[in-house]
Formats: sequence, C-alpha cells, structure tokens
Amino acid sequence: MRISIFGLGYVGCVSIGCLAKNGHTVVGVDVQEQKVELINNGVPTIVEKDIDEIIRTEHAAGKISATTDYLKAVTTTETSIICVGTPSSETGQLNLDYLFRTAEQIGEAIAQKNEFHTVVIRSTVMPGTNERVAAIIAEHSGKKKNEAFAVVSNPEFLREGSAVSDYYNPAITVIGSDHQPSIEKISSLYKDIKGEIIITEIKVAELIKYVNNSFHALKITFANEVGNICKALNIDSHPLMELFCKDTHLNISPAYFKPGFAYGGSCLPKDLKGLATLAHDHYLTSPLLQSIHHSNEHQKQVAFDMIAKTGKKKICFIGLSFKEGTDDLRYSPSVDLAEKLIGKGYTLSIYDKNVHLSKLVGANKAFINHHLPHLSELVCDEPARAICQSDVVLINHRNFDLAAHRELLKDKIVIDLVRVKSDVAQLNYQGICW
Ligand SMILES: NC(=O)c1ccc[n+]([C@@H]2O[C@H](COP(=O)([O-])OP(=O)(O)OC[C@H]3O[C@@H](n4cnc5c(N)ncnc54)[C@H](O)[C@@H]3O)[C@@H](O)[C@H]2O)c1
Repeated sequence: MRISIFGLGYVGCVSIGCLAKNGHTVVGVDVQEQKVELINNGVPTIVEKDIDEIIRTEHAAGKISATTDYLKAVTTTETSIICVGTPSSETGQLNLDYLFRTAEQIGEAIAQKNEFHTVVIRSTVMPGTNERVAAIIAEHSGKKKNEAFAVVSNPEFLREGSAVSDYYNPAITVIGSDHQPSIEKISSLYKDIKGEIIITEIKVAELIKYVNNSFHALKITFANEVGNICKALNIDSHPLMELFCKDTHLNISPAYFKPGFAYGGSCLPKDLKGLATLAHDHYLTSPLLQSIHHSNEHQKQVAFDMIAKTGKKKICFIGLSFKEGTDDLRYSPSVDLAEKLIGKGYTLSIYDKNVHLSKLVGANKAFINHHLPHLSELVCDEPARAICQSDVVLINHRNFDLAAHRELLKDKIVIDLVRVKSDVAQLNYQGICW
C-alpha cells in the first residue's frame, strides 16, 4: 500500500519504519524540515531500540522518504496516517490544533484527488474527534465523507523504550470506522502483526487509550503506596507485589472490572480502611488508598440522584444484600441507599430471595436492626408484590428474571445497578453507568 504518515515523532517514526518493513511504501510528512531531512538521509528522528537499522535498510531499499509537501504526499498515496502530537493544554484539555491543521491539509489535498482516500487517526484523541476530523476534511475538500474519503480511528499503544517490539507485538489492535472497506483496508495493514484485531465503535476506539493509560498510572501509584507502607513496616515490597501478581483469579484478571454499583460487604470496606489507617499510623500519606472510599460513596450518590431525578417516591429494591447469592446485609451499599431514601421520605418495597428476616442472626441481624429497623414492614416475599407497590424498580441482582415480570414493569422506571442479564428492550430502562 502507498501510505503517507503525518508527524515524524515517536509514533510516526516507528510507524514509517515498521510499515515499510512490512512491505509498504511510506512517505513521512512533518512541518519540521530537520526531521524530514533525517528520514531522507536514512536516519530516525528518535532514539529507540532497533529503529536505526529499520530506517536505514528501508530507506536504502527506496521504501521510505519524507517531505514537507503535504499536497504531494496525499495525492500520491491512498492512505494517510495521522501521528501528530496531541498535548495537554494548560487547563488539562487536549490541544488538538496540530491534528485539526493536519485534517485541513489533508482536506485540501483530497480536493485535488480523484481516488478515494482513507485517513487514519493514530494520535491519542478524545471521543468525537473522528467526527470533527471528517467534518474538517469535508469542508476543505468540498467532498463527502464515505464517498471521497473515510476516517478510521486506530489508536497506537506502543511505549517509548520498547516501541518497535510493541508495534509488532500489541496485545490488541483496535479499529473503529463507519466505512467498511476502509476498516478492511486498515485491518490488512496489521495482518502480519501479532494480537487480535478488534473492530469496534468509533468512540470506543477513541476512548480506550485514555482508559488504558489511566489504569497504568493507577497501577503504578497503587504499587508505590503499597511500597511506602511496606517500607515503613520493614517488609520488602517487591516479593509482596510479586505474590500479589500471582493471583490471576481476582488481582490480575477481569474480576471486578464491570462498571456498576458501589462495593460493600464485611471485607472490602473494612480491609481497605485497615490498610489506609495503617499508612496513616506510620505518618504516611496515601492519597490513592484514601480516595477509594470517597469514590465508592460517590457511586451511592449517583444511584440516589438517578432515583431523585425520576420525581417518583415509591421505590422497589430487587436485591438488598451486598451481592447476589448471599443474605449478608452488612455494609451493603443497597442498605445505605435504602436508609438514605427512607430518610428523605421515600416509600420502599424490598424483595431479596436470600434475605429471610427470621433467619438473620448475629452481626448480620444487629447491623440491619441498627440501619433498617423497620425492614420487616418493607420486605415482600414475592417480587411481583414489591414491584406492584412501586413506580421505580431498582435492580441489584444480575440474575433477576426481568422478562418474567415484563407486564408488571410496563409502566415502571427500571434503574439497573448491576447490568441485569435479562433482555431490557421495550422497558423504561436506565443503567447506572452505561
Ligand atoms: N510517544 C508515545 O509513546 C506515544 C504512544 C502512543 C500514542 N502516542 C500518541 O501519538 C501522538 C503522537 O505522539 P508522539 O510522541 O509521536 O509526538 P511527537 O511530539 O514526538 O511528534 C509529533 C510530530 O508531529 C509533527 N507535526 C505537527 N503538526 C504537523 C502537521 N500539520 N503536519 C505534519 N507534522 C506535524 C511535529 O512536528 C512532530 O514532529 C500523540 O497523540 C500521542 O499522545 C504517543
């Protein structure tokens, strides 16, 4: 394929070399003449393992060149890959000036072309940018999206220091576009590269990189706070974290990564508080550990606000225990929510298939007696009865069979905290964070 690459920085330089090595003819475009000159002399614009050899060889083979002439670069290629910088502005928002300027230039060039042109956004951009880039290109080319050109979102996941190896060994390649032939064309660029190619919605393709990098930052910070506590206790943090990583069931795994309601129960809140307090007792600051509880409390507020926004006062709870399959009500976020709603004058009806008041004992009973002393007046032994008494139905158990109660739910608002497994089509339905 004949490809033009806009931006000859870290991402662009690696892309130009690796695409050429995979058999494509690539022309790099940059506004900095010095970078263009380097590439035209077979020299990379960055310091990175293996890149010198790749650029030298591919340049010698005539597969790599560079220019500042963006018109020529676009008109002589069938695909342009945008790798320009998208730095943070002073206020934290993304500065997309370079990207939009590039879109204008590509648009000007497409105005002069008769063949279809595919534009790939490889830079890290916020959701909605694909649409804006398409609008800019349409404006500057005078041509229509998906007739004369298409825009594909294809985020880059490489890390500096191992960029070439990361380019050839990504965990996944993510592609989002509303133009099927361009999806196929760009997928073909990665056919010799390891890792699954995942075609997804454009906005998912745009946001995923931010979610990935934020999680990586979270991991580093978490490990550092744990390390600081370990050091204060004279424990070597490295073997401890190695042990932590050996748990691939709950720690390094998809477990818990489902957006939904707050955590609760007798262990997570207690043990998190224990670790944060241990840090505090050793005069350590652990802002991340301290913030987890606040974020969790906020999620309860999100659920409360959704209910308040309906303007309805009669609320049915499907599920009250801290998770499905148990009758443990201790520190259940649903109990907190119920308590708050009662305090604000709401009327509740509650169904939980595992909670039988006569069978509650010990700390579980004491907890509920303290927090919801009138629970017996609110609990229904049939879900239908609880639903009938309400205007809003709050789902807290994923396995609840909504479909079996479809008729009763017709004129109710369903608020789902757990992403229920049932089909929710035709219901007046809202998910807490989807
Ligand atoms: N550096 C990384 O490790 C990395 C990894 C993955 C994704 N990304 C993302 O990729 C994008 C590029 O990052 P980078 O580190 O390669 O940036 P960089 O700053 O190293 O390079 C960007 C290049 O774009 C050029 N440029 C600006 N406007 C241009 C225009 N109109 N036409 C042609 N060239 C133009 C600049 O002169 C510069 O050489 C960013 O969105 C970044 O967030 C970076």
